[in-house]
Amino acid sequence: MRAIVFDQFGSPDVLHEADIEVPQPGPGQVRVRVKAAGLNALDGKIRSGMLEAVRPTPLPAVPGGELAGVVDALGEGVSDVQVGDEVLGWSDTGSYAQYALATTVAPKPAGLDWQHAVALPVAGETAERVLNLLGVTAGETVLMHGASGAVGTLAVQLATARGARVIATAGPANQDYLTSLGATATVYADGLVERVQALAPDGVDAVFDLAGKGALEDSITLRGGTDRIVTIADFGARRLGITFSQGSQERSTARLAALAQDAAVGKLVTTVTAYPLDQAATAQQVSDAGHVRGKLVLTVG
Ligand SMILES: NC(=O)c1ccc[n+]([C@@H]2O[C@H](COP(=O)([O-])OP(=O)(O)OC[C@H]3O[C@@H](n4cnc5c(N)ncnc54)[C@H](OP(=O)(O)O)[C@@H]3O)[C@@H](O)[C@H]2O)c1
Repeated sequence: MRAIVFDQFGSPDVLHEADIEVPQPGPGQVRVRVKAAGLNALDGKIRSGMLEAVRPTPLPAVPGGELAGVVDALGEGVSDVQVGDEVLGWSDTGSYAQYALATTVAPKPAGLDWQHAVALPVAGETAERVLNLLGVTAGETVLMHGASGAVGTLAVQLATARGARVIATAGPANQDYLTSLGATATVYADGLVERVQALAPDGVDAVFDLAGKGALEDSITLRGGTDRIVTIADFGARRLGITFSQGSQERSTARLAALAQDAAVGKLVTTVTAYPLDQAATAQQVSDAGHVRGKLVLTVG
């Protein structure tokens, strides 16, 4: 099968097409004919080698942690999914490929296309996990740093659906985008503390840092301490006594199915930029640059 592979760590140029074996599903796994692969900032961090000390990757490797596609083979013990089912979920083998294995998948509603479906697993799970960790409830004000990307697009909508007010940062080009999602938008430039204090004179109840670009000290100032601040991207968090939330293995088919239903009926909006599989290097270059609006996806086949 056709796949995108890297056999050394480095810039996006290390990604190349290769013909590799079709993977065989083990117990509890399904094999999916991939229609769309989700591209995550993590893919570039793995490819660059920057995570080798904490999360080694055996080479050669196929990138990609999520997929949408059609089930084409079942491993031993799988009874809740049939061959031919249209699904979205997390991939156990790299999803930048024609076929990948998966353990946790949810049905794709007919009204949701492949590209918008694949915007949900990683970003949806991350957004829900952190909002739960922060304990965001109706009537509260949440500050989100860097909310115009894949996770932020969902986090803003899920927090406002809980009845919270969201103050969110992005660059100048994404202010209207954040407003369209339901947030009060501001830029992430110097003077952030003063701007947020003007927007929320009674203070912010929780802070969700999605950017990892040095906003934690300002967050402590705004919160008056480290309580109810969570980052998913700032590796300096623990030094400051702030919670870093890691990717979770507690993946819920039911929650993913519910997000997919909401997306299918327009209750949850995703914004997608798609590249064909053979332009994976270009797509990762765009991701590495760090100014993606919504989700980058690769279309396969
Ligand atoms: N720990 C976990 O469980 C977990 C899970 C998923 C993702 N992540 C990490 O979380 C981060 C966000 O993921 P994502 O997929 O949403 O990323 P993304 O789609 O690449 O979004 C990045 C966003 O950051 C904004 N940004 C850039 N520079 C900024 C700055 N100086 N201050 C504030 N915001 C800035 C950008 O806004 P503008 O374009 O407007 O500049 C862009 O919208 C990534 O680092 C990713 O690896 C962690």
